[in-house]
Amino acid sequence: MTEPAAQTSHLVLPAPNILAVASGKGGVGKTWFSITLAQALVQQGQRVLLFDGDFGLANVDLQLGLTPKHDLGDVMDEKMTLRQVVQRHTETGIDIIAGRSGSGALANMPLPRVNDIRDQLTILAGDYDRVIIDIGAGVDRLNLHLAALAKTLLIVVTDEQTSWMDGYAFIKKTWQTSPKADVRVVVNMSSSVAEGEKSYQPIKLTAERSLGRAPQLAGIIRRDVKVSAAIKSQTSLLTRYPNTDAAHDVLALAKTL
Ligand SMILES: Nc1ncnc2c1ncn2[C@@H]1O[C@H](COP(=O)(O)OP(=O)(O)OP(=O)(O)O)[C@@H](O)[C@H]1O
Ligand SMILES: [Mg+2]
Repeated sequence: MTEPAAQTSHLVLPAPNILAVASGKGGVGKTWFSITLAQALVQQGQRVLLFDGDFGLANVDLQLGLTPKHDLGDVMDEKMTLRQVVQRHTETGIDIIAGRSGSGALANMPLPRVNDIRDQLTILAGDYDRVIIDIGAGVDRLNLHLAALAKTLLIVVTDEQTSWMDGYAFIKKTWQTSPKADVRVVVNMSSSVAEGEKSYQPIKLTAERSLGRAPQLAGIIRRDVKVSAAIKSQTSLLTRYPNTDAAHDVLALAKTL
């Protein structure tokens, strides 16, 4: 089976302070983790921009109960610049570029517009200590194209085997096109730290065997009932339930970045 050639006609060098959160399998907690990590970094005193890079199912704003005045749709339509659609989420202190929730419009964005947004994001990154891109699930071209902007890529998996296989596919594709990318694995919703380590091992071993190198383990985040409670109340976990296992795990992971 031949794989489609990676998009190389418009090469943007990855910015050192851009970090992307990606996964092969959907629903592994990327958006929740991106928000929580962003807030953890704000709490360390960093200026953080969170970019909703899930063009199909944007929902950073939904998880935070934010009603964006403007979003990426306005940038796609060339009505506004990327900088103009940045909105501060006052409760967490995160600057947010929202996607367009409940609309598939962004998923069909023409490639020149995507490239223009990539260029603008790279420039905007200069105003921040850290930019986090929440990428949609799956190894499709647009997701890999956005991930290529990031120096650091966190691949989220869970304790389920299917997420390891799909996560590994993302790692492999990324290193094919960006061999210098700093790729790390986050095991989320893990039943325990020991179980999380067990989930990382097959990815590490497969990568070592097939690619000659393995992604580091960035951290393990335990499954916590308060995560969904916080999402339901459209409040961030670190604001609503800062004293929980999942909150502590993300804070610890943030310190290692
Ligand atoms: N550590 C955790 N403990 C318990 N539940 C969690 C945890 N992390 C995420 N979840 C649950 O997983 C659900 C999916 O999370 P989220 O929407 O962030 O995933 P996603 O990977 O962004 O999904 P998609 O692939 O659709 O973008 C959340 O609604 C939340 O309830
Ligand atoms: Mg998501």
